[in-house]
Amino acid sequence: MEAIRIIVNEHRALAAVLHGMLYLVHEIRDHDDKPDFNLFGAMIYYIDSFPERFHHPKEDQYLYRLLRVRQPEAAPLLDRLKTEHRVGAEKIRTLEQALARYQQGGRAEFANFLAAVESYATFHWEHMRAEEQEALPMAEKYLSVADWEAIDAAFLGHSDPMLGTDARTEFDKLFTRIVNLAPPPIGLGPERQRA
Ligand SMILES: [Fe+2]
Ligand SMILES: [Fe+2]
Repeated sequence: MEAIRIIVNEHRALAAVLHGMLYLVHEIRDHDDKPDFNLFGAMIYYIDSFPERFHHPKEDQYLYRLLRVRQPEAAPLLDRLKTEHRVGAEKIRTLEQALARYQQGGRAEFANFLAAVESYATFHWEHMRAEEQEALPMAEKYLSVADWEAIDAAFLGHSDPMLGTDARTEFDKLFTRIVNLAPPPIGLGPERQRA
């Protein structure tokens, strides 16, 4: 079940970026740090493109599609997760707009950006929790060996290169860029600057 390992690893990468972004907004709130808009932009680009183009399509098109067939009782949970994939995309637009307003409007727009970051992080953590604690155990229980072969092939990019290793390399590069831009203790970039 390579697919489960891949999903959980992808959740950890996303969670790391969400934690990093929360850390940065809380430092701005508590210590008046100078915002690094370049870094926020890279983080939001990552949490937009990585789930949208890479992570959720694999879940929807392969894992959850087969689970729905094998275990009809999973339908309410899978409906909810599918809706959250759509809602998540809308919430990212809100986050992007809040960042643009903060960048243009300065301090007066910070509270709105902080709220958007906290709201998105909470939403996505709860989504990943439901997947890991509810959907994945059901998949392990009800899917057949042949199902897993098809799902693993998709997750390894054998059925669609856009969902496999080559595409992952691009996201890994972006993740590394974020780590190199982010200040300690969340990244390897320059020390934070006070405003
Ligand atoms: Fe998901
Ligand atoms: Fe997921």
